[in-house]
Amino acid sequence: MSIPHYTQLVIFGGTGDLSLRKLQPALYKLQREGLLDKVSAIYALGRSASSDAEYRQLVFDKMQEYLPKHFWDQQHWQNFAAKLHFVHLDVEDPGDYARLAEATKREVPHRNVFYLATSSTLYTPICRNLNSSGMVDANAAVVLEKPLGHDLKSCAAINSEVQRVFPEQNIFRIDHYLGKETVQNLLVLRFGNALFGPLWNSQHIDNIQITVAEDIGVGGRGDFYAKTGALRDMVQNHLLQLLCLVAMEPPANLQPNTIRDEKVKVLRALRPIGADNAKAKTVRGQYQAGAIHGKPVAGFLEETGFESSDNTETFVAIEAEVHNWRWEGTPFYLRTGKRLTRRFSEIVVEFKKHPFSLFEGDPNDLSNKLVIRLQPEENITLYKLNKKPGLSRQLKLEQVELNLDADLHDETQHHEAYERLLLDVFEGDQTLFMRRDEVEACWQWVDGIIDAWQDAQVKPKSYVSGTMGPSAALALPEKSNRSWHEQ
Ligand code: BG6
Repeated sequence: MSIPHYTQLVIFGGTGDLSLRKLQPALYKLQREGLLDKVSAIYALGRSASSDAEYRQLVFDKMQEYLPKHFWDQQHWQNFAAKLHFVHLDVEDPGDYARLAEATKREVPHRNVFYLATSSTLYTPICRNLNSSGMVDANAAVVLEKPLGHDLKSCAAINSEVQRVFPEQNIFRIDHYLGKETVQNLLVLRFGNALFGPLWNSQHIDNIQITVAEDIGVGGRGDFYAKTGALRDMVQNHLLQLLCLVAMEPPANLQPNTIRDEKVKVLRALRPIGADNAKAKTVRGQYQAGAIHGKPVAGFLEETGFESSDNTETFVAIEAEVHNWRWEGTPFYLRTGKRLTRRFSEIVVEFKKHPFSLFEGDPNDLSNKLVIRLQPEENITLYKLNKKPGLSRQLKLEQVELNLDADLHDETQHHEAYERLLLDVFEGDQTLFMRRDEVEACWQWVDGIIDAWQDAQVKPKSYVSGTMGPSAALALPEKSNRSWHEQ
């Protein structure tokens, strides 16, 4: 079967937060750049009764809220809005799928892309019903949002059901961190520059830190979050994906499966964390009332109103180990949390210090660091020692920051992760999407931690909103005389 020129996108959960906040603005921006010509129609599905006109108005209103003003253009909006349609659908009702099939039927052959922006508990009924409705042919693709399942068992069950309907090469498991510009740049930084390759191992790297800090709380997602927690929401996917890209071996080529093979090897090399070491290697936290940027904010329990959520972590720190030839002896410190001091995500590669100091008064506690900042700014900085300028007889040293990336600051070249990823789905490129074995390997490692927390009754330690998490998290690297990189 030849691949149809045109695609139509069908979004389950079309009126949901993800669709309105991330997907529609990303699609609009692709349209604005002339990259959406092959997508002839976008069908948003939902249960709230709505017409095409009402849905377009809803997207318009949200776009005013979420899209930076300088991207707005009335003519582009009109062209984009003409593609938007709303179809009422109850995911469990086969009759509604028959109506959907009718609504999406086209004279010219089209490739159907189904985007499942719902809870993953609905993926099985959606795929079954799509299959029975006859809308899935050999070219049809499905995009699955994270978290995929709640643990390894549920994830595997969903994967098996989805694979009954779609072959693996048509399944796009999304992790939007892989669409971020600096994350993709990591591959180029590591494998395009001869400079770092020889140093990229435990002989030269003392430790690696991956931080994804947010200042927001759980907001309107309390219900989802109370059942999920930071380990499942962030570590199982985003942080482990970053770890894979930092730790993986050079792939033989840039084919999607070659890269994913290397990532899976890293995940399989992660030393399990279980009953014997969970207390020493992990810290769970939950935010209490405090202040963010000077404004008072409520604690997690008051915010969600669920007293029973006292066992949900909004913060995790982990000392992970990649148990292989390249990384033995180099700890990977991971931390993520909500309501922290400020929003920033970064990867810090801290190099080992030189064995002997030539300079009297050398601040030997200063090491070379490569800091890869993902957000809010996107940049790469090398921390190095310099001579302090001046005529002093004794050489004085100071740490300076060398900015390695002028181009990343070009605003016109800034694209949201979802733009990159949606484009890749339309082009059928799976490089930045997770393969089944990858997601399941992530769950396997994370399940070990969850089970250990449960068995040993490790409760989240409280931290004041506006700080960097429980003090135990600061102590995690300090146990081996290391510390978190702070700017
Ligand atoms: C999502 C999580 O996957 O990522 C959210 O479900 C989190 O809890 C979000 O806030 C963070 O994404 P970003 O791109 O804003 O760092």
